[in-house]
Amino acid sequence: MKNELNISFPSKLINVQTSRAILIGFLAELDLPMSVINELKTALSEAVTNAIVHGYNNDESCVVSLYFSYDDFSIKMIVEDKGVGIENIDAAKEPLFSTKFDEERAGLGFTIMEVFTDSLQIDSVLGSGTKVTMIKNYAS
Ligand SMILES: Nc1ncnc2c1ncn2[C@@H]1O[C@H](COP(=O)(O)OP(=O)(O)OP(=O)(O)O)[C@@H](O)[C@H]1O
Ligand SMILES: [Mg+2]
Repeated sequence: MKNELNISFPSKLINVQTSRAILIGFLAELDLPMSVINELKTALSEAVTNAIVHGYNNDESCVVSLYFSYDDFSIKMIVEDKGVGIENIDAAKEPLFSTKFDEERAGLGFTIMEVFTDSLQIDSVLGSGTKVTMIKNYAS
């Protein structure tokens, strides 16, 4: 582990942007190609948005936690909420599956996370919350 960071913030959608800015600052030392940074921040945005919109049903008074780390080979991002949890993780990961189509959700967030990272792990307990762990390898 070369560096790591823990941060928590209120579940407001404005903090999707905050989390992107923090990620970019945290990764600055690595001098990554812009394409890799864009993929990471897009995947992160999807996970943070999900925590707020689904985990907490847009209740702004809850807490989202982030953990970032990297070593010489890979970058890890963990997004955690203590919200409603996911009933069926396999179904949720399917492209175009959404429990909020009525709110203009496309059901593509997990697909984007999967495509833009090398490993996506979803741990969720109904009524307790969801932890999304993403790992992306990079050539240093
Ligand atoms: N943190 C979470 N807590 C509870 N449920 C979640 C969480 N993240 C995802 N889900 C569930 O998984 C489904 C799929 O998530 P995904 O991000 O792929 O699509 P979406 O959020 O519905 O649409 P989009 O991301 O395209 O706007 C969601 O509709 C929701 O039911
Ligand atoms: Mg989503």
